[in-house]
Amino acid sequence: MPRRTFVKGVSAVGVGLALGVTSLAAVTENKRRRYAIVGVGSRSQMYQSAIETTHKEHAELVAICDTNAGRLEVSRALARRHGAAEPKAYAAADFERMIAETKPEFVIVTTVDGTHHEYLIRAMELGCDTITEKPMTTTSAKCQAIIDARKRTGKNCRVLFNYRYSPPRTQVKDILMSGEIGDVLSVDFQWLLNTSHGADYFRRWHSHKENSGGLMVHKATHHFDLVNWWLGAVPQAVTAMGKREFYTPAMAKRLGLESHHERCLTCPEKKKCGFYLDMAAQPKMKQLYLDQEKHDGYLRDRCVFRPDIDIEDTMNVAVRYDNGATLSYSLNAFNAWEGYQIAFNGTKGRLEHSIVEKIYVNGTDSVQGGITEGGVTTRVIPLRGAPREVEPWTGTGSHGGGDKIMLDDMFLPKPPEDKYQRAADERAGAASILIGIAANQCFEKGTPVNIADLVKNLARPDYAPMPSRTGPLPMPQA
Ligand SMILES: NC(=O)c1ccc[n+]([C@@H]2O[C@H](COP(=O)([O-])OP(=O)(O)OC[C@H]3O[C@@H](n4cnc5c(N)ncnc54)[C@H](O)[C@@H]3O)[C@@H](O)[C@H]2O)c1
Repeated sequence: MPRRTFVKGVSAVGVGLALGVTSLAAVTENKRRRYAIVGVGSRSQMYQSAIETTHKEHAELVAICDTNAGRLEVSRALARRHGAAEPKAYAAADFERMIAETKPEFVIVTTVDGTHHEYLIRAMELGCDTITEKPMTTTSAKCQAIIDARKRTGKNCRVLFNYRYSPPRTQVKDILMSGEIGDVLSVDFQWLLNTSHGADYFRRWHSHKENSGGLMVHKATHHFDLVNWWLGAVPQAVTAMGKREFYTPAMAKRLGLESHHERCLTCPEKKKCGFYLDMAAQPKMKQLYLDQEKHDGYLRDRCVFRPDIDIEDTMNVAVRYDNGATLSYSLNAFNAWEGYQIAFNGTKGRLEHSIVEKIYVNGTDSVQGGITEGGVTTRVIPLRGAPREVEPWTGTGSHGGGDKIMLDDMFLPKPPEDKYQRAADERAGAASILIGIAANQCFEKGTPVNIADLVKNLARPDYAPMPSRTGPLPMPQA
C-alpha cells in the first residue's frame, strides 16, 4: 500500500469514525489481509480478537510469535474460542522463517517495548508493513535504526496512539482546531497514576529502563503524543527532573514492613502489604503469567519496593515546541486518583480539560483507561467573559472508547476520511518518545537536551491545520 494511503487514509472525518459507528459492509473487500502478531501477551489479545471477530471479513491472523511457548498456546486457544483458524505459532528465534512460510502483509508488534525495533526493522526488510504498539521504541539509537529502515525499505511503520481516538480527546483537538481559544502559547499538563495501576509498573518488566525506557517513555509517550498532536507541533528542546522516592526499600520500612522482598507469591509479609498482588486469584493473569513462568522465568508480581528498580516515580518536564508553544508536564505514579488535568492557554482564551479514569490492573478484567461516570470535564473560558461548559463527546470501552475506533481505523480496508489525522507513523512515534528519551538524559546529566541532537533525518509528522499564530486577533473587551 502506498505510504500516503496507509498513513493518511483518514483525512476528513466522518462523524461515524469519530464516534465509532462505521459500516463494515460498505467497505468490505473480498481479499482478507494477512496479519502476524509478535508478542502475544495481554495487549495483543485486543488485536487478535478484532482480527478474528469484528474484522474477520477483511482480516486474518496467519501467524504468532513469542519467546514464551506457553503464551503462544494461550493465543491459539483464543483463536479456537473465536471459531477462527489457529494461527501458526513460532518461537522468537524463528521470526524470519515465520515471515517466509506464512507471508503476512502486516506484522503487529506487541512485545516488550525495548524489543519493538528488532521486529519492526526485520519485518520491513522482509517486505512487510509494520504496526507497533506505543512506545515505538525506547532509545534514540533504536529510534534512528527504525527511521533508517523505513527509508531504506519503503515499507510503512504505523504507531498506535489509541488516546487520539478517544472521543473526549478528539473533541479537545476539534475545539483547538476551531480557533475558539486562538493559538495556544503554553500548556499545563499533570498526569496522575494511582497506587493500583501506577504501582503495577514497578512489579513488571517495565520496572527496568532497558525494557521500557521508564515511565517517561513507556507511559508518557501517550501524553507527549497527545500534546504534539493537539498542538500540531514538534518538540525542539526538553529540560526535566525525575526521581524514585515512593517505590523504594526505605518506603517499605516507613510503611511498616520489615523489608522489601522478591515477589508477592512467596512474600513473608503479604498479609501486611497493601501492594500484595495475588496472581492466582485472577484467572486471566494466572493463565497469561503465573502458569507460563516455567517457560521463561518471567515474574509478573515482583516486589514494588525492590532496590534493583531503575525507573522514576516522580517526573517534571518542560518542553519548547517548534511553533513557540511551551509545555509544563508532570507524571506521578503513587497518586490518590488516576487521570489528568490539562489547560491550554490561548490568545483568545483558555481550554481546561480533565478526565478521571477507572481503577485498572493489567491482566485482570478491569478496563484500561476506562472513564469514570461523569469523569470528563471540558471548559472554554474566553480571556474576559463567562466560561462555556462543554458537553463531552462520549465513547465506551477501553481508553475512553479510543481502542474500538482505532481498531476500525486500523483494520477497515477503506476507513472513512479523518479531518483530525489520527493515524500516526514513525514520525509521530519518534516525536513523542524523543521527549521522554531527552527527559531521561536530563535526569542523568542535569542539562537541557535538543531533540535535533538525538536523531537525524526525522521528518515532521502530518498534522491537521491549526489556527494562525500571526494573524489579527480581537481586542479583549471589558
Ligand atoms: N496502547 C496502550 O494503551 C497499551 C496498553 C498496554 C500495553 N501496551 C503496549 O503493548 C506492548 C505489550 O504490553 P503487554 O502489556 O501486553 O505486556 P505483556 O508482558 O503482557 O506481553 C509482552 C509479550 O511479549 C513477549 N516478548 C517479550 N520479549 C520478546 C521478544 N524479544 N520477542 C518476542 N516476544 C517477546 C512476552 O513473552 C509476552 O508474551 C508493550 O509495548 C506495551 O507498551 C500498550
